[in-house]
Amino acid sequence: MHNIMVTGGAGFIGSNFVIYLLNKYKEYNVLVYDKLTYAGNLDNLLEVSGDPRYHFVREDICDAGSVAQAIEKYKIDTIVNFAAETHVDRSILNPDAFIQTSVYGTYVLLEAARRFCLQRYHQISTDEVYGHIPAGYSSKEDDKVDPRSPYAASKASADLMVNAYHVTYDLPVTITRGSNNIGPFQYPEKVVPLFATNAIDGEPLPVYGDGRQMREYQYVVDHCDAIDLVLHSGTIGEIYNIGTGLEMENLQMVEILLQAIDCPRDLIRHVKDRPGHDRRYSLNIDKIKALGWQPRHTPAEAIAATGRWYADNEWWWRKIKHGAFQDYYETQYGERLRQSTASNIQSSSYE
Ligand code: NAD
Ligand code: TYD
Repeated sequence: MHNIMVTGGAGFIGSNFVIYLLNKYKEYNVLVYDKLTYAGNLDNLLEVSGDPRYHFVREDICDAGSVAQAIEKYKIDTIVNFAAETHVDRSILNPDAFIQTSVYGTYVLLEAARRFCLQRYHQISTDEVYGHIPAGYSSKEDDKVDPRSPYAASKASADLMVNAYHVTYDLPVTITRGSNNIGPFQYPEKVVPLFATNAIDGEPLPVYGDGRQMREYQYVVDHCDAIDLVLHSGTIGEIYNIGTGLEMENLQMVEILLQAIDCPRDLIRHVKDRPGHDRRYSLNIDKIKALGWQPRHTPAEAIAATGRWYADNEWWWRKIKHGAFQDYYETQYGERLRQSTASNIQSSSYE
């Protein structure tokens, strides 16, 4: 493994992973292959932009010709696929691009991996493929997938195709399923950066429903660490969950965030819930721990560190929260916020 193509490498987790790889492995070359959708951002990669081992191609993973050209030109031996449309709320408004990229695009990459006999195809997946998980249980890798949003269904479909290429063509694949990532460079449509940046500007924080949904927030660099471990020590054909084993209610997350950036909790608004909102995700992480990994940050540490990063890096997010973002914000939140209520709900276990 020397020449790695990171598809979706200009997005949030992909760019953190590219920086991680180039810092850790002096002998690796990394090609970022990214379409630069609204979520792709070359500012994320400024730290490595002058590194001769870093290359960038702006193309779509659905374009088989461009994928083949990039693999040949950069002598790629490994693909790590982060490319996807990733926001559940946008998948509810318009699922089309989600299906295109995650279903058809993943197929294109798998075909290329097969044709060029790559050493490894690694798929970045999500805990959302398991669907809502009742209290008292944590998802294991061989549980059935039960996706409930168009986003989750597009990701589960990709996982099934990756597995089919392993079984049918003996393609050397691995899959990791991560929980909610937070940290530097996350597009401010996702809840933690949206709330951090809104709070810094004194804007309301639109909490969906009662805010008691449970998520397993993890620091993005811990996730990168685990992906790296699976790439180098994982068993071919296997799936690995990556999380913290620690979940919390969204309202707890909001309180930790507001404390970290010293903003008042009266910004919290309860707004109309997301349709089909999965109440709880929870991952069993015994399998990745058995490989020798464990998270370095608790969810609370990750939330506080992320809040502080957004407070310290207005240069990064201010230019994003203009233009098309504001149109999206009005569509998603305008009416909801006009009908919202201030919070009188206390989170149950964080005071
Ligand atoms: P992101 O939205 O920040 O970035 C996605 C990147 O993919 C962008 O750079 C975008 O330009 C690129 N892209 C989209 N469509 C493309 C296409 N057709 N061709 C080439 N590039 C394309 O996403 P993220 O949060 O960094 O997520 C990365 C991956 O991790 C996704 O596969 C996502 O499903 C998965 N994941 C995310 C989380 C999370 O909490 N963010 C958790 C678990 C898994
Ligand atoms: P999100 O960051 O969209 O990730 P996902 O839905 O993929 O888990 O949302 C995380 C949680 O925060 C989820 O329970 C939905 C909730 N949420 C809000 O309450 N308000 C918001 O404005 C957003 C974007 C999310």
